[in-house]
Amino acid sequence: MSVAVVLVAAGNGERLGLGLPKALVQIDGKTILEHSLEAVSSFQPNQLVVVAHEDRVPEFQELVQNSYAGKFSVVPGGSSRQGSVANGLQLVDSALVLVHDAARCFTPAEVFHAVQAGLETSPCVIPALAVTDTIKRVSGDQVLGTEDRDQLRAAQTPQGFHTNLLKAAIAQSTEVFTDEAALMQSAGHSVSFVTGSPLSKKITTIADLGERTTNQRTGIG
Ligand code: C5P
Repeated sequence: MSVAVVLVAAGNGERLGLGLPKALVQIDGKTILEHSLEAVSSFQPNQLVVVAHEDRVPEFQELVQNSYAGKFSVVPGGSSRQGSVANGLQLVDSALVLVHDAARCFTPAEVFHAVQAGLETSPCVIPALAVTDTIKRVSGDQVLGTEDRDQLRAAQTPQGFHTNLLKAAIAQSTEVFTDEAALMQSAGHSVSFVTGSPLSKKITTIADLGERTTNQRTGIG
């Protein structure tokens, strides 16, 4: 079955605090967008849709053009992640779609392949990792209890779907979810998972960059 990747890259990057859209922040001399395109390039989907920050579409277009050899489209994002996914999905005509956060820019291509393989038997597949911290349920400043860690997983991307089911679930949804797997579950679909990767950590704050250099530290951009 044909497979598309929708790469959502329209976030503001407010929590990074570098004053530019997160996907345009440079890490070790390359933008987050360019890093995220490396795994997509080795995965080789039939179709790629990049969802760009709405104020910077030409810049995104140029970056993708210069770093991605396959067929691609660039569309402007929405005000929520879900809105951005909906914008990207409008252009998808492949049977399967993998929705990936550009902010998880070091995800290995193997994870894309594992998610795609899972879609042979499931309508929705996500990569997920075991939780290593002890997780507390809280209210205000009170700890109410401790979750059973063995039953918890941290969800990552790319999240894979049968395109027609995801399009229908988004069209019918009245709520905004933080990921499309939650949206699919609310629409009554089962969701399965494959093992994710520690390399898929989402870049959210400066601390997530570790020892890597950024625009801020190098003065680039
Ligand atoms: O904000 P957060 O880090 O959870 O965003 C996850 C991914 O969704 C990022 O790659 C970001 O660029 C994207 N996003 C988007 N449109 C938005 C908000 C986030 O494409 N309105």
